[in-house]
Amino acid sequence: MTAKASLVVLISGSGSNLQAIIDAINSHQLDVEISAVISNQASATGLERAAKENISTHIIDHKQYSSRDAFDLAMIKVIDSLNPDMVVLAGFMRILSEHFINHYMHKLINIHPSLLPKYKGLKTHQQAIDNKDNIHGASVHYVSHELDSGPIVIQAEVPVLADDTAKSLATRVLAEEHKIYPIAIKMHIDKRISFIDNQIQLDNKPRTTPVQWKDNKIINTEF
Ligand code: GRF
Repeated sequence: MTAKASLVVLISGSGSNLQAIIDAINSHQLDVEISAVISNQASATGLERAAKENISTHIIDHKQYSSRDAFDLAMIKVIDSLNPDMVVLAGFMRILSEHFINHYMHKLINIHPSLLPKYKGLKTHQQAIDNKDNIHGASVHYVSHELDSGPIVIQAEVPVLADDTAKSLATRVLAEEHKIYPIAIKMHIDKRISFIDNQIQLDNKPRTTPVQWKDNKIINTEF
């Protein structure tokens, strides 16, 4: 039997996306194993979610390191000892150094609560409301050097309702995040999608349009 593909998941907080990945594994939608969950916050609820599944956890507290590079090197040491197929950022709230990104480039993936390239950074839901957007959503992207940039694998669209607050909108977006993150991970693990020569390749062909998730399904006709 060949070993399963493996993930290391980096978190800082609630870890509901981590939970969605765990649930997808447990329901056999995703055939991978999580080698470890790393958090920079000892209080992250996601650590409890991992422990419940007997996934090994590591707390690497950024405040104990004199620089971003030193902190990232400590993470690299743990991650490399596990040799994962993917490094998955799931609500990891630290900016990563160039060295870290280069080290895991092509297998480092992130989820962001906006339809990138709109609204990089924080407070994305409030920005969508303030700008009177009709549509908001979430994106999964490979990580490149610029914050919340890098080629987009899949996006989920969520309508913005007239009475939405940032909180109500965030809740609906998060529910879609939980659906698209396992799909994106599966596409990478199955080698359908890859990040080569600074662009997404789908079935070995360059691709500029992300996979689009709407009304609970992929809407691109080629899937
Ligand atoms: C999500 O909204 C994700 O898009 C962003 O951080 C949040 C993490 O939530 N990067 P959780 O910790 O997975 O519940």
